Amino acid sequence: MKRRPLIAGNWKMHKTVAETLAYIEAFKPLVAGVEDRDIMLAPPFTALDAAQRALEGSPVALGAQNCHWEEEGAFTGEISARMLSDIGVSYVIIGHSERRHLFRETDEMIRKKIAAVLRHDLIPILCIGETLEEREAGKTLSVLERQLKEGLKDFSARDLKNLVVAYEPVWAIGTGKTATPEQAEEAHAFCRRILAEMFGADFAETVRILYGGSVKPENIVGLMARPDIDGALVGGASLKPDVFARIVCFGRMK
Ligand code: PGA
Repeated sequence: MKRRPLIAGNWKMHKTVAETLAYIEAFKPLVAGVEDRDIMLAPPFTALDAAQRALEGSPVALGAQNCHWEEEGAFTGEISARMLSDIGVSYVIIGHSERRHLFRETDEMIRKKIAAVLRHDLIPILCIGETLEEREAGKTLSVLERQLKEGLKDFSARDLKNLVVAYEPVWAIGTGKTATPEQAEEAHAFCRRILAEMFGADFAETVRILYGGSVKPENIVGLMARPDIDGALVGGASLKPDVFARIVCFGRMK
């Protein structure tokens, strides 16, 4: 079975509202009529509302880059899944390696965030991936297994029916070093086996696993040719509308 591809852009801490609107104006015509795949953009929190209005009627869905696990309360500086749902966000990126490493997010925090995202019927994109040190020590697969098992342990296949997983080797993020399609496929196939063990074969067959880490127009086709790679989570190359549109439109005749 071929899963519907998802190409997601993560802008990280980039772009003002005016820059967001200019981007969307340029991007929308470039992806108009693209119906055989899902497209998502995750601007910073401050631009989500404006982006939502500007994307209305287009096939591009809106994502957030993070959220807190509580509904509301004394959590200065945080944003809840409830607030994201309120302004029309569809996807939330959870456990990005920058959150895990720079902001010390643990597997337990990530699990609570996924629960919050699911309570509001949003789609979690759970990011997992090994550091260079872990890869060199031969621990890649055990790190991925731990991150999946700990991050998803309290849920059922039914709870997670829309789950998206993103495999992002930390050493490939923003470094220009992409995992080869073979390295990525090995990790993706392994993750699918773990998900089959946890939630059954049917679940594993339908869950989308994205690759992230220096994805560009030049390497998307080779990655997407692999059977277990269902899309991409794109950082740096999603910041320019024409470059991101070339990634989104991979494999289409233009
Ligand atoms: P990159 O980032 O495409 O700039 O490597 C990917 C990500 O962090 O999701």
